[in-house]
Amino acid sequence: MPPYAYFKKKYMPLSDAKLGLMTHCLHYGTAVFEGIRGNWNSARKQIYLFRLKEHYERLFNGCRVMKIAIPYSVDELCRITVEVVAKSGLKEDVYVRPVAYKSSEALGVRLHGLEDDFFAFVIPWGPYLDMETCRCGVSSWRRPDNSSAPSQVKVTGLYVNSALAKTEAIENGFDEAILLTQDGHVSEGSGENIFLVIDGKLVTPPTYHNILNGITRQTVITLAKQELGIETIERPVDRSELYTARECFLTGTATHVAPISEIDHRKVGNGGVGELTKKLQKLYFDVIRGKNAKYIGWCTPVYK
Ligand SMILES: Cc1ncc(COP(=O)(O)O)c(C=O)c1O
Repeated sequence: MPPYAYFKKKYMPLSDAKLGLMTHCLHYGTAVFEGIRGNWNSARKQIYLFRLKEHYERLFNGCRVMKIAIPYSVDELCRITVEVVAKSGLKEDVYVRPVAYKSSEALGVRLHGLEDDFFAFVIPWGPYLDMETCRCGVSSWRRPDNSSAPSQVKVTGLYVNSALAKTEAIENGFDEAILLTQDGHVSEGSGENIFLVIDGKLVTPPTYHNILNGITRQTVITLAKQELGIETIERPVDRSELYTARECFLTGTATHVAPISEIDHRKVGNGGVGELTKKLQKLYFDVIRGKNAKYIGWCTPVYK
């Protein structure tokens, strides 16, 4: 089955969807994107799209910031997404990439006086990081401050920061980067939020520390509270707390819940998957695959 796309108001194989060389967003990063997972449930022969509406609500927030007038409603985008995955016929874990973008074929850096459009495609995609070990390094690149660029929405141009940090981490022998804020507090990974376990509680950097407020982050906070009775404290986190926390893990749509085994060459806990991380991983995977009836409202089935 080919990966499938919705492009210029039509469904088509991904390989048929092409953008012109002068398309504005390609030159100036003037697009807003999402990453949505569809999770395969083999017993029910179903793909469940996770928290579809919340992803599109965040996309719309990004569009407001970037002055992109998206020619669809949230409900229409949800329907298009279900349709594009259904048309792909894929029967495995998938990843949907919706993009709202400045579509004019015109040069000149600006947001005004340009046309806007939307596309989405689906591809098969397994886990982004190892589910048992992840060696992280604190990056020499800092997370952009909201006073320089809108770090709380998923603007494509901003991801040059994540790309620099990720490649620096890999070239230094790590699996993932942890970025600090401009004033040296822990912000997040290159494409993930970060949690620490301190004194039996979850601690995570607050939204005002230039994080992307992840949908997985919000999911984990809810599951920890409702299913395990564990509170999450959203507060500034110092770099050295990364070295003393009992457990640390990363969360993200692509990443799921991935334990951090080492930070800056210091083991986290005993270097294995921590107890609380393990419990949250199990809860999270059941929820996203539509195996937990209580949270089935977060899962949109693709196949009739
Ligand atoms: C920079 C950044 N932080 C955090 C996240 C996690 O967000 P979510 O859980 O909504 O995927 C992502 C991924 O979207 C990201 O790109």
